[in-house]
Amino acid sequence: MEEKKYKRTTVTAALPYANGGVHIGHLAGVYVPSDIYVRYLRLKKEEVIFIGGSDEHGVPITLRAKKEGVTPQDVCDRYHKMIKDSFEDFGISFDVYSRTTSEIHHKFASDFFRKLYDEGKLVEKESEQLYDEEAKQFLADRYVMGECPHCHNENAYGDQCEKCGSDLSPMELINPHSTISGSKPVVKTTKNWYLPLNDYQEWLKQWILEEHKEWRPNVYGQCKSWLDMDLQPRAMTRDLNWGIPVPVEGAEGKVLYVWFDAPIGYISNTKELCDREPERFGTWQKWWQDPESRLVHFIGKDNIVFHCVIFPSMLKAHGDYILPDNVPSNEFLNLENDKISTSRNWAVWLHEYLVDFPNKQDVLRYVLTANAPETKDNNFTWKDFQERNNSELVAVYGNFVNRALQLTWKYWNGVVPSCGDLQEVDRQTIQEFKDVKEKVEGYLDVFKFREAQKEAMNLARIGNRYITECEPWKVWKTDPKRVETILNISLQLVANLSIAFEPFLPFSSKELRNMIGLDNYDWTQLGSTEILAAGHQLSEPHLLFEKIEDEAIDAQLKKLEDTKKENEAANYVAEPIKKEVSFDDFEKMDIRVGHIVNCEKVKKSKKLLQFTIDDGSGTPRTILSGIAAFYEPEQLIGKDVLFIANFAPRKMMGIESQGMILSAVNFDGSLSVTTTLGEVKPGSQVG
Ligand code: 2FM
Ligand code: ZN
Repeated sequence: MEEKKYKRTTVTAALPYANGGVHIGHLAGVYVPSDIYVRYLRLKKEEVIFIGGSDEHGVPITLRAKKEGVTPQDVCDRYHKMIKDSFEDFGISFDVYSRTTSEIHHKFASDFFRKLYDEGKLVEKESEQLYDEEAKQFLADRYVMGECPHCHNENAYGDQCEKCGSDLSPMELINPHSTISGSKPVVKTTKNWYLPLNDYQEWLKQWILEEHKEWRPNVYGQCKSWLDMDLQPRAMTRDLNWGIPVPVEGAEGKVLYVWFDAPIGYISNTKELCDREPERFGTWQKWWQDPESRLVHFIGKDNIVFHCVIFPSMLKAHGDYILPDNVPSNEFLNLENDKISTSRNWAVWLHEYLVDFPNKQDVLRYVLTANAPETKDNNFTWKDFQERNNSELVAVYGNFVNRALQLTWKYWNGVVPSCGDLQEVDRQTIQEFKDVKEKVEGYLDVFKFREAQKEAMNLARIGNRYITECEPWKVWKTDPKRVETILNISLQLVANLSIAFEPFLPFSSKELRNMIGLDNYDWTQLGSTEILAAGHQLSEPHLLFEKIEDEAIDAQLKKLEDTKKENEAANYVAEPIKKEVSFDDFEKMDIRVGHIVNCEKVKKSKKLLQFTIDDGSGTPRTILSGIAAFYEPEQLIGKDVLFIANFAPRKMMGIESQGMILSAVNFDGSLSVTTTLGEVKPGSQVG
């Protein structure tokens, strides 16, 4: 095992923006892995602190507030609570979960900036930016819209055209307008403070590219491509009225850049916690300034540059801080082969999941770790979720635990029997599960959570194999003493599982420990055959996991299907109007009202319905129409419809159709039959 070079670990998880809920992408990318890691360190009795919180500044929050007609603080309050609750519900065991609108944070970030400013670490620079003269404010990129210079989409944003995907700057837009007042912005000079990243480039190269080759390839690779280019000074302040005011005279109307203040939130949240519970956590400086503390940032891949280049440069510029030791960043998780998107509502939201799958937090945690996008983007599908639950959690883990406990109750009234002489199969099994400890540790130490969880599951596989091989139900008749040993070893394995799975599946691990009455436990016990003493009484067992049926999965798929339809509806743009026609042309069509006397399905046709229409002539008229997918025949009998009466007759499926019933074609291709609002006699003309 790698020698421990540090005394304690400061673990941070990216601060989510408080402008939406938490979905499975967040959980898989950042919060489940960080929670696994922290729980693991705690089980090892290491000194660790786990810092989280909401990121409550930045332009998107102001845009959302504007859209909803509320204040940015209202938006933050709502989502901060929602996010915090979701994390608690899923067992993300932060020691502190605070927010960047807190007073402590404002002061802390402001002081941090001021120190850099006073020491001349920031560069003052003027630049030209768009300004809204009516609203009297500079316009952040997202506050400007106009025509994309590439694809001529008229609704491109100042930072990006969502139609062609081009990155833009607001100055590039053709005919820009302010989304605040609608007016045409003017170009105005403004002053901001920049961190000269170029001054840190050589140091960053040495520190990351030479001294941190062990970082995940995706993180190292992204850093390398940044550091292979020339870094530019980066503005640490913005002309905006939502954020932390720039603590410099003459900087009215300016706030700290959200990516300046947010990572400082990790530190100020630590301070908040340490001020609150000094006996337990000591001082915040201990976690952030003592070289014997090790800093680990868990983030998603879109945050790499901020945590590996910008924040370390800020810390270096300040001078008093330790630097991240590792930045385990995940790639992205897709949902049913499509990118997770908040705006398209293409996501599984945690609060909704718990309504549909109450008490099944561990199932989601398990699946997200099994599929964690550690090295490449990965995909969540509901079928896979069901499969992993049914054939792994239920059939392997739950099954082994249940077998071991039921057999103990059957033969020993739920009391742990003693362990007798060992046979070869026992020795082999014990060795196997001793090896698992080292493997799980080996993976967790290097942030390979998928592999680590696989190894934990392996313990249950070992257990199932052991019971199957030993067949205690057969041996019982001839050698009950032997059964004692088999049960003892099986129960020790069950206890091992409750510890090994604790970082991954904290809810079911706790349930399991309750069933076996294991109160005091820690990581060092893993691999031990003496966790449960002979004579120890177990509690009544129950199933740890239950099967997920097809109906539950179908309901989730239907929900996504409905979302897709809603999105299509929202994006629907009517077909362009056809070429102009004369009234004479229109008059050539004989459109009439017909009363549907009868309607039935056409044999062997999935599409066609056959109508018998009263067209006022006294002779019933037959019309075929391709709307069988949208109506049951009975729904239409007795209705009045509009039809074209003077089309030349046409034969379909051997039946002659004398006209065409008019239907509206919906955006998704579905058809709705047209009718009249009031009652009209059959045969009446339409025009
Ligand atoms: O990408 C995001 O969601 C950011 N709010 C992450 C911030 S992490 C840290 F710097 F606070
Ligand atoms: Zn475009």
